[in-house]
Amino acid sequence: MGKVVKTGVSFPEKLLKKFDRVIEEIGISSRSQAIQEAIRHFISLNSWRLSEEDVVGAILVHYSHEQHDVEEKLTDVQHDFRDIIPSALHLHLSKEDCLLIIAVRGKASKVKEFLMKLRRVGKLKQVTHLIMPTY
Ligand code: NI
Repeated sequence: MGKVVKTGVSFPEKLLKKFDRVIEEIGISSRSQAIQEAIRHFISLNSWRLSEEDVVGAILVHYSHEQHDVEEKLTDVQHDFRDIIPSALHLHLSKEDCLLIIAVRGKASKVKEFLMKLRRVGKLKQVTHLIMPTY
């Protein structure tokens, strides 16, 4: 291990409590170790962004269709990026909530742009992705 640097990070109390519950469940004894692991996971989840390779994966969007305009905007963005979306799946989670699972395949830069435009739709409950290089 290289040099260790100390840093201060702010957390919403609820988030930290939940994090502590999860690391206790996993059996990790040190919060620092768990945060390091979470950061490594975050890096591996996002390092595809640094490449110019072809990538493939899925983007999950959790939203309420009762939010004004959200559904229409999500559809518009998908139409704009139809060349990198081979398929999409819509699940009605409850009376209000929907989960959109969008398959993506194409240049990393294009997928990155699509993700950014998706987030700009706003008022989404959660957006997550699993993207991997195809090499
Ligand atoms: Ni729905």
